[in-house]
Amino acid sequence: MSTVRWVSPPRPADVDYDEARVPPFELPDVLVASDGTRIASAEAWRARRRPELLELFSREVYGRTPPPVPVRVAVASVDEQACFGLVTRRELDVTVGEGDGSAVLRVLVFVPRGARGPVPAFLGINLLGNHTVHPDPKIRLATGWVPQSPETGIPDHEPTEASRGMHARRWPVELLAAAGYALVTVYAGDIDPDHPYARERGVRYALRDALDLDAGDAWGAISAWAYGLSRVLDALEQLPEIDAARVAVIGHSRFGKAALWAAARDERFALAVASGSGCAGAKLSRRRFGERVAHITTRFPHWFCKNFHAYADREDALPFDQHALLALLAPRPVYIASAEQDLWADPKGELLACLAASPVYALFGRSGIDVSPEAIRLNVSYGDHIGYHRRPGGHDILAADFWHVLAFARRHAIQESGASH
Ligand code: GCU
Repeated sequence: MSTVRWVSPPRPADVDYDEARVPPFELPDVLVASDGTRIASAEAWRARRRPELLELFSREVYGRTPPPVPVRVAVASVDEQACFGLVTRRELDVTVGEGDGSAVLRVLVFVPRGARGPVPAFLGINLLGNHTVHPDPKIRLATGWVPQSPETGIPDHEPTEASRGMHARRWPVELLAAAGYALVTVYAGDIDPDHPYARERGVRYALRDALDLDAGDAWGAISAWAYGLSRVLDALEQLPEIDAARVAVIGHSRFGKAALWAAARDERFALAVASGSGCAGAKLSRRRFGERVAHITTRFPHWFCKNFHAYADREDALPFDQHALLALLAPRPVYIASAEQDLWADPKGELLACLAASPVYALFGRSGIDVSPEAIRLNVSYGDHIGYHRRPGGHDILAADFWHVLAFARRHAIQESGASH
């Protein structure tokens, strides 16, 4: 039995869901630097405003990370006939750090067979273990602590045989393979266990000498997950079957936050996709609707650096808002998926962030998204370099979301080589 017993606390009762009562708010202009200078060119954005915003997000929200360290990659298993011969499935052990306490990220890779060259890939973190993304009984069970909740039915934080394939709906391996994409995933707990207690596992532990973990700006779990995604990308650069220049980082909910932060920092990611990423993801923090900073820092203190906690009920004091996170991806494409009933994540607040990030894309001569929030219809994909859709239903990522995401990826040439678009 795991020694850490922790379940995420229930959602609070004091949540605003009444659109008519949302107080007006003013967003900091993403194109005005801290000293008041207006940013008027792509060069000035790159040279000045982008580094400044990366520094602000590191210091005030997610926490600083150490510089990249080299990874060691070992192939743990290969099955050339997975999914009835549609894909080759590999499990890689990607080691971060040296010696005692180094982190071993167990990376699950599904590559479509018969491709004409290296394939593009979607890379994302899973919540409950690699064995939950597909029912294939040969996939290794996760090790260590896993979250426990009524939904998972996983007792005592132990990975179980019964949980195999339980999140397969979020990882449409066959759909992606048939469309020419690899799918790569890693269990969050291998990178950084998702609980607020002391841990002797993951990249923050492996690299514990690199940073003072008690500092107000030391990395929280979201930064650790983002760092881990970059280390997995390092490993993919060593796999000839995958085109590392066409890797989309994707995540749902807490991992949508991590995907955006990973792509903001690491420009090797060709595309970022965040579904239901909500508070501290794509949602504007200043909009008083659904989850707010006070809620998230109380229930999930370990996701952030300590400095972020000071913005609970003081969102207006943040020198930026989450539209700046999306803007950090410019000029690369970014896709935000939300769901009608996922009010906690604030679908409208996510769309408003997309709109407010668009002027940065314009600096690069690209259009972001231009649609009025009132015009949004369900199941329609909007936007150009910033994509957005809202599907019916609740907090999840489903094949219906991937459907829009694949069309968007193809439109931006993140597709099988030789395929036309
Ligand atoms: C909680 C949390 C959200 C988060 C979500 C998830 O609901 O409040 O911020 O996105 O968990 O990761 O599923």
